[in-house]
Amino acid sequence: ARKIIIDTDPGQDDAVAILLALSSPEQIETLGIVSVAGNVGLDRNTKNALKVVELSGRPDVPVYAGCARPMMRPLVTAEHVHGQTGLDGPDLPEPAIAAQPGHGVDFLIETLRDHAPGTVTICALGPLTNIAMALVKAPDIASRIAEIVLMGGAYFEVGNITPAAEFNIYVDPEAAHTVFRSGAPITMMPLDVTHQMLGTPDRIAAFRAIGNRSGAAVADMLGFSERFDLGKYGWAGAPLHDPCVTAWLIAPEIFSGRLCNVEIECASELTRGMTVADYWHVTDRPRNATFIRTGDADAFYALLVERLARLP
Ligand code: BDR
Ligand code: CA
Repeated sequence: ARKIIIDTDPGQDDAVAILLALSSPEQIETLGIVSVAGNVGLDRNTKNALKVVELSGRPDVPVYAGCARPMMRPLVTAEHVHGQTGLDGPDLPEPAIAAQPGHGVDFLIETLRDHAPGTVTICALGPLTNIAMALVKAPDIASRIAEIVLMGGAYFEVGNITPAAEFNIYVDPEAAHTVFRSGAPITMMPLDVTHQMLGTPDRIAAFRAIGNRSGAAVADMLGFSERFDLGKYGWAGAPLHDPCVTAWLIAPEIFSGRLCNVEIECASELTRGMTVADYWHVTDRPRNATFIRTGDADAFYALLVERLARLP
């Protein structure tokens, strides 16, 4: 099984991504989860991560709290999307477990150093603050990371928090710049692909029809997200962004994209956090990220239903 660390700001879609990873132990061994400030503040995101590992029946998966604010900028949050708790929708019990002592950034560094180079993958589902801070504190880890698979950015699909930028990159563009320039292999799931993964009413019904606690919770999460996206975008359902990351580890054949250069806009206020993807190779800048552009939504949702059925 591929060893991963999940860095996250849960988040309804983060929660589904985590559940997918924890439901697939033959393919994915989750070494730990690190929270980051993003959708809501750090404390709430940490608590939500604890709720999700309990929901999945895997309270043994360690949860660490990471950074409480971006590297250089005031924190921007998204309660308008995710609700006041950051995980509105399902009625999950208060967690009985607690976060681990120690900082999430140190957990990232120590775990990468404790494992053979090229054997630990980082799945990033929120702003890239913790990963950039780990790279700043311990540059030696860049060559030890097997791959960073992240949800973030957009190119042809432009932005969701501003006309030019996707939320995770916008919140901490300097962190994203640090990560994209680190030399570690990157696969990115931008809005271009996640906007194809709409949680339509029939797909929500399929989660509920699983008949377990996790399926009901996911149906409630998607039902909550839908309220925002239906009203704002007029779509048939809310896009399920972050699970593209863990689905890609399990079934990469669902997705397609290409290796190209991606740079992060940090200077302009108007286009802050834009991911400038050289998709057509019009420059000779180094090809630092695999930009995933399309995905098979029916196969993606079928995988989710099949795997979540294994959970409590
Ligand atoms: C990203 O922002 C967050 O609100 C979601 O959880 C996802 O990671 C989508 O832009
Ligand atoms: Ca997220």
